[in-house]
Amino acid sequence: MNILVTGGVGYIGSHTSVELLNNGHDVIIIDNLSNSKRETVGKIEQITQKKITFYQGDVTDKQALAKIFQAHHIDGVIHFAGLKAVGESVDKPLLYYQNNLISTMALAEACLTYEVKQFVFSSSATVYGDQTSPMHETMPLLSTTNPYGETKAMSERILQDVIKKHRKLSIVLLRYFNPVGAHSSGLLGEDPSGIPNNLVPYITKVAKGELEKLFVYGNDYDTVDGTGVRDYIHVVDLAKGHVAALEKLKSGLEIYNLGTGKGTSVLEMIEAFEAVNGISIPYQITERRPGDIATCYADVSKIKDQLGWSATLKVEDMLRDAWQFERQL
Ligand code: WQD
Repeated sequence: MNILVTGGVGYIGSHTSVELLNNGHDVIIIDNLSNSKRETVGKIEQITQKKITFYQGDVTDKQALAKIFQAHHIDGVIHFAGLKAVGESVDKPLLYYQNNLISTMALAEACLTYEVKQFVFSSSATVYGDQTSPMHETMPLLSTTNPYGETKAMSERILQDVIKKHRKLSIVLLRYFNPVGAHSSGLLGEDPSGIPNNLVPYITKVAKGELEKLFVYGNDYDTVDGTGVRDYIHVVDLAKGHVAALEKLKSGLEIYNLGTGKGTSVLEMIEAFEAVNGISIPYQITERRPGDIATCYADVSKIKDQLGWSATLKVEDMLRDAWQFERQL
């Protein structure tokens, strides 16, 4: 199938583009390169030995989208493009609402205009808010803790209203837990600009000596060791989950969690990184980070039962691959 991947040069988009190409699909990418590098296109082609069609552009630009849909017969769309820094979304709410909601609506409109059959939306476990894990797809969407999470919840609701009217389109909402790690080739990985917000890229910068130590945001949560517990999933597993969802999509709208179903604490992640990579990670316990919740991990039974997909890679694989990518940057 011809698949349009928005944000396809980004961290998750690039890994998903690799798996789509590996599964025999043709990939067209639109990316505004605001949080990614043009050279990643070549790395995807190097890994897969296949060519990609790349457009530098913004998904909120309806003319840019029309040009692509008129030039190619698009069978399916995977929509990654969006702003995703939780802290930044608190500082710049209008930027996040405009960018993330307008891009989703413009893309959905183009799918209807050009009779695209499948739409896969990159959502987030953030939409569950501070509920009790394991998080299940049938849980109500309570208020999230930041504008970024609200844009994901709102986009889900917009797409659910679209599908009520337009039955020819199939939509799947994929709720990611914590994507980490990198492609085993060392060519693709998470390379955030500036000081990383997320745990694993921060740890790899400490391992490299670029940052002095890790600040652990609180150890007074009601968890195994007081530090935050999350469901970390290898980005390659996550990418394969997208291919499974796209290839087995039924009509209507479905929601799936993409996680491992296991929770790991911050201190357990530090210990695992040190054990796998033989590098000590100095850290200091500090105050809780506003907006954080104690525990978040997935109930992964639905995607396993309906699509026969489960994550296979372990935390050790994630941390080994993350370090292998970081050290060659
Ligand atoms: C993980 C744990 C922190 C950094 C967010 C978004 C989510 C998705 C992934 C976009 C928490 C602790 C972290 C640090 C720390 N983003 N931590 N020191 O907050 O679970 O999820 O990123 O799709 O939507 O909500 O991920 O990696 O920031 O934090 O102690 O320097 O590590 O408190 O317990 P999070 P994270």
